[in-house]
Amino acid sequence: MSETALDALLHETRRFPPPETLARDANAQPALYDEAAADRIAFWEKQADWLRWDRRWTTALEWDPPFAKWFVGGRLNACVNAVDRHVEAGFGDKVAYHWIGDGENETRTITYADLQRLVCQAANGLAELGVQAGDRVAIYMPMIPETVVTILACARLGAPHNVVFCGFSADALRGRILDADARVVVTTDGQFRRGSPTPVKPAVDEAVDGCPDVRSVVVVRRTGGDVAWTDGRDVWWHDLVDGQPDSHDPEAFDAEQPLFMMYTSGTTARPKGILHTTGGYLTQVAFTHRMVFDLKPDTDVYWCAADIGWITGHSYIVYGPLCNGATSVIYEGTPHPADQDRWWKLIEHYKVSILYTAPTTIRTLMKWGHELLEPYDLTSLRVLGSVGEPINPEAWMWYRTYVGGGRTPVVDTWWQTETGAIMISPLPGVTTTKPGAAMQPLPGISADVVDNDGEPVPAGGGGYLVLTEPWPSMLRGIWGDDERYRETYWSRFPDIYFAGDGAKRDEDGDLWLLGRVDDVMNVSGHRISTTEVEHALVGHPMVAEAAVVGATDATTGQAIVAFVTPRGSVAADVSSGDEFVQALRNHVAKEIGPIAKPRQILVTPELPKTRSGKIMRRLLKDIAEHRELGDVTTLLDPSVTDAIRGRMSESGSED
Ligand code: WT7
Repeated sequence: MSETALDALLHETRRFPPPETLARDANAQPALYDEAAADRIAFWEKQADWLRWDRRWTTALEWDPPFAKWFVGGRLNACVNAVDRHVEAGFGDKVAYHWIGDGENETRTITYADLQRLVCQAANGLAELGVQAGDRVAIYMPMIPETVVTILACARLGAPHNVVFCGFSADALRGRILDADARVVVTTDGQFRRGSPTPVKPAVDEAVDGCPDVRSVVVVRRTGGDVAWTDGRDVWWHDLVDGQPDSHDPEAFDAEQPLFMMYTSGTTARPKGILHTTGGYLTQVAFTHRMVFDLKPDTDVYWCAADIGWITGHSYIVYGPLCNGATSVIYEGTPHPADQDRWWKLIEHYKVSILYTAPTTIRTLMKWGHELLEPYDLTSLRVLGSVGEPINPEAWMWYRTYVGGGRTPVVDTWWQTETGAIMISPLPGVTTTKPGAAMQPLPGISADVVDNDGEPVPAGGGGYLVLTEPWPSMLRGIWGDDERYRETYWSRFPDIYFAGDGAKRDEDGDLWLLGRVDDVMNVSGHRISTTEVEHALVGHPMVAEAAVVGATDATTGQAIVAFVTPRGSVAADVSSGDEFVQALRNHVAKEIGPIAKPRQILVTPELPKTRSGKIMRRLLKDIAEHRELGDVTTLLDPSVTDAIRGRMSESGSED
């Protein structure tokens, strides 16, 4: 969104106060902010008391910037908090997950007691493979119940899991297995995409080929059919797990025991292993899940439509909802043009009351039309959430009006892989919302918008979003690289966490997120580094140079546009483009994954550079977004941009 468009919107912003009944009955009341402001640490201690601790902590926070330890001395088991506790409290028959597969007519209902049995068997199985507390386990699986079970089994054993989104390539998976030094990998033979099986294990075989220390690959049979098999290394899940005892004695771990790592893209070519630990992480995901969605565990049916392979899935499909004893829907599929009303069917059928999804999905459903919603009864919905990228006011209004029937609060939740849990968001029973604004930091969270010198901007000003106090679910570091952790997040403004996002504080002091200010793109809510894609492109033998920009896209938020100068025979005949462009797109898919395929690749004999030899990315972004070019006086050779612009108007976008 441009600043002027935003200004215009701020000017005439509509406001939606919480419905009266909700204001009265909501979990979060205005006093929560006062309580947290009066004593932030005591406030978080109170939230931590919602969990079951085997031993209570002695010190709530040890803060040695930029290193934090929360609930020091406390001991707990994450899996016990997510599962056993509810069974012991008499909720064994309560549904934890309604799972809807993407195969033919597949559904499964898993109660908390079922989950406990499955997790115990899986923990016993992994232990049999030698997995011990502290060992890393890589998980490369589609959205099936076994994925949740594996995550929880790792947590039960104190073995940090490293889930890699199934859309990543073998190369990307290998990098993550090696960096985390995982010795065991759990995967499936294949997965279903709208009823059709597609293979998964070949990518694991290819990845593990370069990982000499991986000793076991556990394979869930999902699609059937033949798979390549490495004897002595590969083991079927059903052979390993199904015969195991369905009880397992859990050990309590230190509050700072690593719970998982999740790799995410930054401004360099190498993804970072973001490390999360146990006590603080669970405290904040459980708290935010109760408050931001106003969860009533006895009556709500909650659906977070993210993939478990991303942080949103970890925090708001697995740990948050389970720690709160919620009933969730997991849907393996994604919105598809051939099945445009599937979502509305599911919401009606399962009586979903809380829906959490990304703006890109909302815009897709919006494009297909609100008429599709009309045949369905969606009155069960009472809170709608958005996450992953700035939500434009049009999408926000459509979400509220058509999906929420004009009744439901919309909570736009800002957070990151690094923050572990929601940080800035309205609270349904408290906040008067504005379409497109994330509004205020949650109770217990300190955020600000600062200028270049780190000075807070006044109301009405824009700048950089920072977090000024440590929070319980904050990342504890980058796996194996403390210096990079310090440098990436804590050096732009000393001892203050720099999020990488631009933000604006409006006249009322409310926050509007404006997108990344660094070289990170946001495509359909997925975080992709321009440098990483450039790196992949220049790794192709026919590429001399590449520059990548994120161009505004009406559906996906941003789209990847690459400018490539070829070498060798291709360079001689730039117009032989199509095949070359296709080869490059496939190359990026192989190096990183299909999600990183550029929408458009422009092959050009030269890239526009300044006199000092720097690629002018701003200019390329202007070209990619079809804008008038700004100041080009520092440009070495203006004819280069004219040539690129000529090619841009000739070429359509791909896919
Ligand atoms: C980046 C973090 C948090 C889970 C999903 C993404 C952007 C996230 C919002 C929002 C504006 C948002 C930011 C952030 N982002 N939520 N509500 N409004 N921008 O996690 O992959 O770590 O990406 O997503 O740019 O820095 P992630």
